[in-house]
Amino acid sequence: MKIKSVKALEILDSRGVPTLQAKITLEDGSSGTGAVPSGASTGSTEAHELRDNEPNRYFGKGVSRAVTNLRTTIADAVVGQEFSSQEEFDEKLIELDGTEYKSNLGGNAILAASMAFCKATAKSKGLELFEYFKEITGSTSIETPQLSILLMEGGKHGDWATDFQEYMIIPRIDLFDSVAESLRSGAEIFKATHDVLDKKNYDVTVGFEGAYAPSEIKSNTEAFEIMLLGIEQAGYKPGEEILLGIDAAASEFYQDGKYNLRRENKVLTSDEWLDLQIEWLSKYPVFSIEDTLAEEDWESWTKLVERVGHKYQIVGDDLLTTNTKRIQKAIDLKAVNSVLIKINQIGSITETLRAIDLAHSADFTTMISHRGGETNDDLIADLVMGCSSWQTKFGGPDRGERLAKYNRLLEIETGF
Ligand code: PGA
Ligand code: ZN
Repeated sequence: MKIKSVKALEILDSRGVPTLQAKITLEDGSSGTGAVPSGASTGSTEAHELRDNEPNRYFGKGVSRAVTNLRTTIADAVVGQEFSSQEEFDEKLIELDGTEYKSNLGGNAILAASMAFCKATAKSKGLELFEYFKEITGSTSIETPQLSILLMEGGKHGDWATDFQEYMIIPRIDLFDSVAESLRSGAEIFKATHDVLDKKNYDVTVGFEGAYAPSEIKSNTEAFEIMLLGIEQAGYKPGEEILLGIDAAASEFYQDGKYNLRRENKVLTSDEWLDLQIEWLSKYPVFSIEDTLAEEDWESWTKLVERVGHKYQIVGDDLLTTNTKRIQKAIDLKAVNSVLIKINQIGSITETLRAIDLAHSADFTTMISHRGGETNDDLIADLVMGCSSWQTKFGGPDRGERLAKYNRLLEIETGF
């Protein structure tokens, strides 16, 4: 089906920062939109996010140049053309851009088009988006995803309440069996944790991703203690039904080759930090740890896997940036056993699917993730239901842009 039109719009994300929305319409009238997310704690090898850098508009954060690229260069290259697959469409844009990190047209412009084309094609085929993903990926069964639900925030997302950026609860999918029941436990624990914090006179307002970020918190491990109380008070058993996960986003507190844990008043070498984090983790029922080391500290990642890779899911986010070259390096160095997948880190649907495939080929797990800055676009919920990944990271059960994804999972699960 030929492409009839490409439209582009500068919209605002969940933080009130501009982002990009594209709309692609095919000649049969089927159309799809794609709104791109944006990170706060970004890896240095992510696809280039093209911003205007014009101080008079949105303090330089406007995306009108990316909008123009969609309306002109990209539209000129694809309108009136027919693409037989998502891959063919994405390759066309990658070639048109011609740079490694999509710095010419903007990773945001290319991804918006890629998402919009994907949704328009699904519509044209009369398929739900997750069904179309299944068609593309060859995935045959819907695997109910295991949710990592955000409960507490710190770091850049939560005004540095803790050095760690994210504390998550993970309802074990082998015990909960459905998204609906997993999400229910998450929402109940979220409410119970509200009361735990309230009793301590801690702040209960939420951070970027819809979870508590109390500035009164005294240490990184106190957040674990609060989580355990919240889980118990909601009537669940930590360590049995509910496991814990963290994303330290350690590149954000790695300075001059050392880990600067401000909450602890400690500046540690890589080896000291490895020892301390392993000691902390051993005290709590943790399943998943993400970016507990900085993105350039490859050697320590390998040491971490050697020491505790059999116990924990060790997830690379800023380290790997959904980039197959970096994932291959992690395979070679045995630096992780899991890969965080973010569509805008790499900048197209096709490359995202390749990253997932490569990770799985090495027996790594994958986790499909939102970003700090989000929109109500729910494509990533369809993605996890339509590919062989079985884990999500969609934030706290408290902000509309996070719930958009969770609620879409519920729709897919029930055939709504
Ligand atoms: P970001 O955070 O979207 O701000 O990068 C999410 C994460 O680090 O996983
Ligand atoms: Zn992360």
